[in-house]
Amino acid sequence: MANTILVGAQWGDEGKGKIIDVLTEQADIVVRTQGGNNAGHTVFIGEQKYVLHLVPSGILRKRKLCVIGNGVVIDPVSLVAEIDGLGRFGVRCEGNLFISETAHLVLPYHRELDAQREILKGKNKIGTTKRGIGPAYGDKAARTGVRMIDLINPPRFEEVLRRKLKENNEILKAFGAKPLSFKKVHAAYRAAGDRLKPFVANTVVLLHEAVREQKDILFEGAQGTFLDIDHGTYPFVTSSNTTAGGACTGSGVPPHRMDLVLGVMKAYTTRVGEGALPTEDPTLAKTLHEMGREFGATTGRARRCGWFDAVATRYATMINGIDELAVTNLDGLDGIDPIRVCVGYRLNGKRLQVPPCDATQLENCEPIYHDFPGWKKPTHTARQISELPSAARRYIKAIAELTGAPLRIVSVGPTRNETIVL
Ligand code: GDP
Ligand code: IMO
Ligand code: MG
Repeated sequence: MANTILVGAQWGDEGKGKIIDVLTEQADIVVRTQGGNNAGHTVFIGEQKYVLHLVPSGILRKRKLCVIGNGVVIDPVSLVAEIDGLGRFGVRCEGNLFISETAHLVLPYHRELDAQREILKGKNKIGTTKRGIGPAYGDKAARTGVRMIDLINPPRFEEVLRRKLKENNEILKAFGAKPLSFKKVHAAYRAAGDRLKPFVANTVVLLHEAVREQKDILFEGAQGTFLDIDHGTYPFVTSSNTTAGGACTGSGVPPHRMDLVLGVMKAYTTRVGEGALPTEDPTLAKTLHEMGREFGATTGRARRCGWFDAVATRYATMINGIDELAVTNLDGLDGIDPIRVCVGYRLNGKRLQVPPCDATQLENCEPIYHDFPGWKKPTHTARQISELPSAARRYIKAIAELTGAPLRIVSVGPTRNETIVL
């Protein structure tokens, strides 16, 4: 399978978890390289639903190594809860999961600051997951962060935490928020540190050994292209590089060891949180929500929904260097007719082929649609492309062509079986 970077080509929740689970069958190692427990990756094994936040989705297949790379920000208490939760379903992380010693920690003051900054922003809020992601990456960039390597060194952690809490409690007080108790935070984080210590490793060396042994590595992207801190719809983005380059910096595996970039995209568009979504359509959202679909895997929020936006996905192909595509949730469009696809934006009378970088301009873009006939038949039983209704085949062929990369996978349901590999 070679070394594959899997990225979300839209605004997150493209179905990356499901596709990772399918591809893990042929991989040796699955690596998360950015983001934190803001991610929610859903995998169904039969009827059983798993939602992974920090642990790579590859953990659900036996004898596959999973790595949380240096680029991830880790809330250790929440990671322990996730590992324990998996354990209750018989999924063993011990011996299969490795955590980078240089990954930064999310501390309770990061979560509190995330919440306070959102309150202060009022109607301009980002709509974050309130998991402390922005403030944790902020500390990393400011060189004031705390890392896994500090957490598993008790005297050092105590000293650093004392200092960090003193400073951050002053900031919290300025926001009018309650200061945090050193005793409580220290006890919870030390306990988590003891639990996680056996998992902590130099994952850069581990991955380079795997590369030397020609193991197949799958890099599991979190969030999506338009939530990228550099290339997304700033400021309505997350705080990491969600695009392909993030897989290199977040793991220590260099670009020329990567073989393929796979872009995952839904057959329509969703976004959770604030910021422009040019093809947003409340009627389509209502239809999908009434089907019980499109509720956030991390926060449970109803996702905003819109038509497939080929301007966005074409840009994603360029930024990530997408070689192949996986289209998910085709079955979500089964009852819809006609099905709209955005093929260009119009802004101030001009036609645009790339999304403008300015958030207000993007907000003002009007989509130019091409309508496709619906198929009005269920697709979830198809296992070969030829078993799809011809209108569905025409639709996926068109969105792949507009996106500018060959189609490799079509997903027609949430489980492993409901997958067509071309
Ligand atoms: P991720 O964050 O990219 O891993 O995506 P999420 O798990 O947050 O959201 C994707 C949702 O779509 C989850 O509920 C998946 O179970 C579901 N899903 C993925 N692919 C398909 C599909 O082809 N059909 C259907 N019906 N559901 C899918
Ligand atoms: P997965 O990996 C969808 C969104 C939030 C918010 C913005 C910033 O499941 O695709 P943050 O908490 O990161 O500071 O929030 O980014 N967001 C996601 N949206 N899927 C995700 O992850 C997301 N992770 C963050 O809703 O708009
Ligand atoms: Mg998700």
